[in-house]
Amino acid sequence: MFITLEGGEGAGKSTQAALLADALCARGLPVLRTREPGGAPGAELLRGLLLGGTTDWSQRAETLLHFAARAEHVEKTIRPALAAGMWVVCDRFYDSTLAYQGYGQGADRDFIQALIGLVGLTPDLTIVLDVPDAVGASRLRGRGGAADRYERLDTAFHARVNAGFRAIAAAAPERCVLLTAEPGIEAVHASIMTAVARGSRTG
Ligand SMILES: Nc1ncnc2c1ncn2[C@@H]1O[C@H](COP(=O)(O)OP(=O)(O)O)[C@@H](O)[C@H]1O
Ligand SMILES: [Mg+2]
Repeated sequence: MFITLEGGEGAGKSTQAALLADALCARGLPVLRTREPGGAPGAELLRGLLLGGTTDWSQRAETLLHFAARAEHVEKTIRPALAAGMWVVCDRFYDSTLAYQGYGQGADRDFIQALIGLVGLTPDLTIVLDVPDAVGASRLRGRGGAADRYERLDTAFHARVNAGFRAIAAAAPERCVLLTAEPGIEAVHASIMTAVARGSRTG
């Protein structure tokens, strides 16, 4: 199965991706945990360009850089793992481009949807973690470390991203499960395991 975790800053994606991968491993399943932007050497170089620096990219260029990184990630990392029978747990995937560049930055959503159609790979299950805007912001502060290019954007941007993720989940109920990520880490993990069990029976 190819499972993606999505949501705004501080929703708990990275925390939950690690817990999910560990839980699957504990069941003896072969698991690859990966992330975007990045997940392959060339894609990690593009991650540096996208998350670091101060370049004011044109919207289409920024969108295409995310999809360039994704093309590399899919071809070099995700497809080979799936072909080898592994479970792939990915921290962010194409929904993040729609939420951040489309809903957040106002890039042309039809342009992004067309590129999504060209990726040629759809997650079997997408967990969308939803937290109130203020909760995500406060978790981010608690996590510490230097803020990246997107984390530095204002609260209105992050509110648009969070609303975008809710719209994305509502538009694709056969693939997406929207979970409130406000309860504690273990409670959210349990909800994710339930969603995965349900998804792997029907998928
Ligand atoms: N359910 C939760 N309740 C409380 N704190 C959480 C929860 N999930 C994650 N955190 C904390 O919030 C911070 C951000 O979590 P992280 O997994 O890095 O979010 P993301 O990858 O979505 O930005 C971390 O310090 C993490 O320990
Ligand atoms: Mg993270």
